[in-house]
Amino acid sequence: MSSDHASLDMGKAYMLAAAHLIAESKISMVKITSPQYWTNHHEYANFSRHSFSNKFMNHTLKIQNLHAEIDGQKIIKGFDLTIKSGEIHVIMGPNGSGKSTLCKIVMGHPSYEITEGQILFDDKEISDLEPNERANLGIFLGFQHPFEIPGVTLGNFLRQAHNANQKATNKEFTPASPVKFMQDVKAELENLKMEASFAARFVNENFSGGEKKRAEIAQMNILKPNTILLDEIDSGLDIDALKVVAEGINKNFQENNPAILIITHYQRILNYIVPHHVHIMHDGKIVKSGDHKLATTLEETGYEQYITN
Ligand SMILES: Nc1ncnc2c1ncn2[C@@H]1O[C@H](COP(=O)(O)OP(=O)(O)OP(=O)(O)O)[C@@H](O)[C@H]1O
Ligand SMILES: [Mg+2]
Repeated sequence: MSSDHASLDMGKAYMLAAAHLIAESKISMVKITSPQYWTNHHEYANFSRHSFSNKFMNHTLKIQNLHAEIDGQKIIKGFDLTIKSGEIHVIMGPNGSGKSTLCKIVMGHPSYEITEGQILFDDKEISDLEPNERANLGIFLGFQHPFEIPGVTLGNFLRQAHNANQKATNKEFTPASPVKFMQDVKAELENLKMEASFAARFVNENFSGGEKKRAEIAQMNILKPNTILLDEIDSGLDIDALKVVAEGINKNFQENNPAILIITHYQRILNYIVPHHVHIMHDGKIVKSGDHKLATTLEETGYEQYITN
């Protein structure tokens, strides 16, 4: 992992992100988390938006005995989890237990050092891959705090991302017409009850908290990753927006059969999305796993019994 990335200031981060996106056209998706920038590149084999379904391709993300730290501070301490296509997992856990850190490490955030363990995608170690290479495999992270990318419109961002995705796996790929693609983006925005004008706005700039979360789901539904991590996608959403976002996730799950990991503090999103597995994370590892009922129990009892055992 390059320390150059970690030392970038935000101005440079943005310039690099925009340059990658617009000039080089080789990055499908740029996510920025201050002070680092990430490039995040999604790809799927030979598909068009309407005909492709990865239903028939099964993928597995296996995290084994993961230990990781930052600046000598241990944060992930023996984390184990396997998620497969067609499964919805939920992680709940107290503040500071390492949930967001885990997501960033899976995506290849350059600041964290893995000291032990493995991250396997389809039985292949991915810890040495750059974020864009991981995204090339179809891994997607919806951020807890989505970053603004001034100067890059959401529509252009998604089109560059989509085209780069396609090109990465299919050299014969011919980019969709910008007009047609924009129609698809607007249709997706409409599904998420967002005005079409969001496509012409800079990514996340001056979006409300809830709009940023919906924009993450729009990206997910346009790019159709096979392995989806959603870090507190429900936080900051009003009651109606929560339903819209949950419907967006369910639609993606039904159409594309991805593996989904939802990180949340609240049972309420699980009124709309029924997970196959619920895990409790504490102090860098999973301390308890169960079915969807575990989330309800947790809401009633709190974490105490799980984190003192
Ligand atoms: N860059 C960093 N430097 C120092 N400590 C860090 C850094 N990044 C994360 N941490 C620490 O690691 C721990 C885990 O943070 P993380 O954001 O992963 O928690 P979380 O489980 O996502 O919490 P929340 O539910 O509040 O979102 C926290 O104690 C946090 O302060
Ligand atoms: Mg977090």
